[in-house]
Amino acid sequence: MEKRTISFSPPDISELEIAEVAEALRSGWITTGPRTKLLERRLAAYIATGRADVDCGTDEAIAAYGNKVVCLNSATAAEELNLRILGVGPGDEVIVPAYTYTASASAAIHCGATVVFVDIAKDGDPETHCPEMDYDALEAAVTEKTKVVIPVDLGGIVCDYDRIFEAVERKRSLFRPKESDGTPLGDLSSRIQKAIGRVAVVADCAHSLGASRIVSRTGSGRLAAPERKRCGAIADMTSFSFHAVKNFTTAEGGASAWLPLDGIDDAEIYRMFQLLSLHGQNKDALAKTKAGAWEYDIIGPWYKCNMTDIMAAIGLRQLDRYPGLLERRHEIIRVYDETCDELGISHLVHQTEAMQSSNHLYLIRIPGISDGQRNEIIEKMAELGVMTNVHYKPLPMMTAYRAMGWDIKDFPNSYDYYADLISLPLHTLLSDEDAAYVCEALKAAVKDVRGC
Ligand SMILES: Cc1ncc(COP(=O)(O)O)c(C=O)c1O
Repeated sequence: MEKRTISFSPPDISELEIAEVAEALRSGWITTGPRTKLLERRLAAYIATGRADVDCGTDEAIAAYGNKVVCLNSATAAEELNLRILGVGPGDEVIVPAYTYTASASAAIHCGATVVFVDIAKDGDPETHCPEMDYDALEAAVTEKTKVVIPVDLGGIVCDYDRIFEAVERKRSLFRPKESDGTPLGDLSSRIQKAIGRVAVVADCAHSLGASRIVSRTGSGRLAAPERKRCGAIADMTSFSFHAVKNFTTAEGGASAWLPLDGIDDAEIYRMFQLLSLHGQNKDALAKTKAGAWEYDIIGPWYKCNMTDIMAAIGLRQLDRYPGLLERRHEIIRVYDETCDELGISHLVHQTEAMQSSNHLYLIRIPGISDGQRNEIIEKMAELGVMTNVHYKPLPMMTAYRAMGWDIKDFPNSYDYYADLISLPLHTLLSDEDAAYVCEALKAAVKDVRGC
């Protein structure tokens, strides 16, 4: 086979995004402004309807989709602000899978909370093979101090939220909502905790924009008729990543979404996100441009993590293209599935009757190899020009988390899953020939290392 160069996950930026960025630059408004607000409404409409082409400039759309999504500069910021709006802080426990990227846990650490890691189920979910938490272990980990559980839709595969809501519902009697400390943030957090009335489900959907699942429980936690819902409309609060390697990118970037709560206006929650993301300043730059409206107040010494209109310009045109980008990922997955099934290699299953993933990562596990042999396969594929990766080395193996006292020996399922895992390149710049080449390179490297 003729050698090709296949990168792992380059951004797919077309002339449409480039033209929109140029327009934003020429418009005279480059920081958070009209494009960011429009992207927020379009994302809310996409989450609610699955349509990427809803006209979100009309008064009806502003009423229907405004104040439901907030765009920020990363998923890490979105997750941290979700936790801060929920009032998570010192003395609280936050349950996180041991098998994830550091941001899923570090946002809770930034808030001063205690992270409680839970191992994944042996070999992941039986149907999708996704390294989801062991949900019985999750339920057992809930204590009177637990405020939040952070499920991670790894690779774009939607976790079993019905099971997660069932776990936190069963532990409802243990939940102790915090009382207001009299500040605007403390008052809102207390009302949110009381309205939810149990451990909050705060999804890390960094990988899963556009993914969906048939669920019988969402925000209220109560059982209802099964219905297909997209990520962002399932958990109490959700964070998305628009980092350069993600399916949908704004270079860096992210967003938060939340479910409506009884007795709390979405506009109040949206407003608190604005304050938290912009120094606690009660007027943003756009509001200050109004005649005579220079004066502002600082209501909290907060953070700076807003999205700019330059980033939103990329996002607006990415969203136009997003359904097509998801379909292309699906086509490549079908090619990879065929090869892996032929070779007896276990892989993520991105589509089941109940679940459609966002086709973000293609994780494979090669039976009977050591982690050393896994690394050899990665090297051999790199020699053949194919860049691969490993998602993820479990957090208890990382220096920072070891220093906090975590030990991978306590998370054997996470270790086993990681030891024989390789992530194949999956992106929309791959041609059919590229995808076929990746399969040939995989076959050759596995044969070389396993000797058969
Ligand atoms: C599972 C997961 N959560 C959170 C993040 C953080 O995303 P961001 O870089 O947008 O903060 C990432 C980034 O790769 C991730 O993979």
